[in-house]
Formats: sequence, C-alpha cells, structure tokens
Amino acid sequence: MPSRTSQEQFDRQAPHYNAQWNAWNSESLAWLIEHADCRKSDRWLDVATGAGFTAVAFAPLVAEVTGLDVSAAMLNEARGRARAAGVANVVFETGAAESLPFGSDVFDGVVCRLAAHHFVSVPRFAAEAYRVLRPGGRLLIADTTEPDDAPGVDAWQNQIDDLRDGSHIRNYTSAEWRGFVNGAGFALEDLQQVPESVPISLRDWLQKAGCEGPAAAEVRRRFLEAPPEVVQTFSIAQTADGDITFQWLRIALSARKPEMTVLG
Ligand SMILES: C[S@@+](CC[C@H](N)C(=O)[O-])C[C@H]1O[C@@H](n2cnc3c(N)ncnc32)[C@H](O)[C@@H]1O
Repeated sequence: MPSRTSQEQFDRQAPHYNAQWNAWNSESLAWLIEHADCRKSDRWLDVATGAGFTAVAFAPLVAEVTGLDVSAAMLNEARGRARAAGVANVVFETGAAESLPFGSDVFDGVVCRLAAHHFVSVPRFAAEAYRVLRPGGRLLIADTTEPDDAPGVDAWQNQIDDLRDGSHIRNYTSAEWRGFVNGAGFALEDLQQVPESVPISLRDWLQKAGCEGPAAAEVRRRFLEAPPEVVQTFSIAQTADGDITFQWLRIALSARKPEMTVLG
C-alpha cells in the first residue's frame, strides 16, 4: 500500500504542481491530441485531470470535457486554468478512476495522462473506462513506464518514484499495459514506448512533488549511485551547476471499445 493517498499527496502538492509547466510533459499531450481524432460533437472524460492541462487542451476540439480527480485542491487549480484560458466547455468533478461516477456508454473518448501509476487498481480503471465509453469510443493513455524484461531498472525507478511521492503505486511495463487494456475488452490500436526527448531536471522534478529534506537527499544519492544499466536506460547525467538530468520512458497507447455486433 502507498504511504500516502493520492488525495493527501495532491492536495498538498497542488500549488507546486500547477506552478510548473514542464517541456518534458508536452510530448505526451501532443501524442494524445494527435491520436484522439476528436469531432466537434464529442464528449470526452479526462481521468485524474490534476491541474487540468489535458482537459483544457482537449476543450477547443470537442463539445464538452469532464475532468475528474480525487484531489479538491488540484481541481481548484484546474478551474483556475480553464477560466484563465477562457474555456467554458469543461466541467470538473470529484471522483475516483476505479469507480467513475457516470452512466454507461456516455463518452466518446476517455483520456488519462501521467496518472495511472497512482491508481490503486488499473484493471478496475480500465473496466470503468470501458463501461462509460460508447461502443466505438476511444481510450487514450500516456504514463511513465518500465522496460520489459529489466527487473533491476524497474525496481530502481519505482523505488525512486515512491521516495519522491508516497502516493506512487507502480509504473507498468508495456506487457502489463497490454494485459490491462485487452483484459477490459478493448481492441488495442497503437502502443508506443519511447524516452521523452526533453531531459528532466531532478531539482525541478523534486520541487514539483514538494519533495524536500531527507527524502530529496536520498533520491539524489540514489541517482548519483545508480547502476550502469539504470544510467544508460534513463540517460542520467550531471550538469555543470550541480543538477542531474534524466529521461523517463513514456508509454502512449490508443485502444477502442468494439462496436456492438448485431446478432442475426
Ligand atoms: C500527475 S497528476 C495528473 C496530470 C494530469 N492528468 C495532466 O495531464 O496534467 C496526477 C493526478 O492523479 C490524481 N489521482 C491519483 N489517483 C487517482 C484516482 N484513483 N482517481 C482519480 N484521480 C487520481 C491525483 O489527485 C493527481 O491530480
């Protein structure tokens, strides 16, 4: 079990999170928009919307976006972002990914970016996404991931994430993601696992999560002492000003709820 719930972590983290828009985040958002194939009449659900970056980016492309999150403080930041962007077709609601507070077959698309690693049950979330999507509707996910068949790298990175943010549960491999999506009944259309091209600053990354003191020092120590396989996988490097940079692997996937079959 996580040492802190997502609600506790993100209520505490909201101002730090919202203050930083990081270039390393922009590629996943661009991928999701490109693969969403949005129509102006669409209704989309952004699960774990956080400060609303994804919901506000989707809003001009569709009729309505609902942003859902367990953290009231993050939703406040999201409402401020929508107001500042002059976006009127986004509504934000409190709720959990594992029990979506919506009827069945009501959304054209469900998107979830950089959040599933916090979910208590990803299979439960996938089943709920399937339920609320109309037949033919699309599920889009982007998240931090682990290489398949590299248990040492997998354990190192998940422990780092846990030290930085006690609500972290697990970054899943692409094999695990295939299992979640297929297991819920979706037809997987595209799955990519790539390092983000923009290096992440360790200093900024810790600050974004409000991680400081002994926990931050321990994360830094582990980066400095990372085994060669880890250094290579995440392109870990020291900078002249004493910071450390790295590139996590991102998974991006697109899947569809099958159209209903007419029985003859
Ligand atoms: C990194 S932020 C989300 C980023 C956001 N999706 C974006 O595109 O910028 C992670 C969010 O997941 C939310 N969260 C974590 N577990 C959740 C759950 N089980 N259900 C709904 N939201 C959850 C947290 O409250 C937090 O706001």
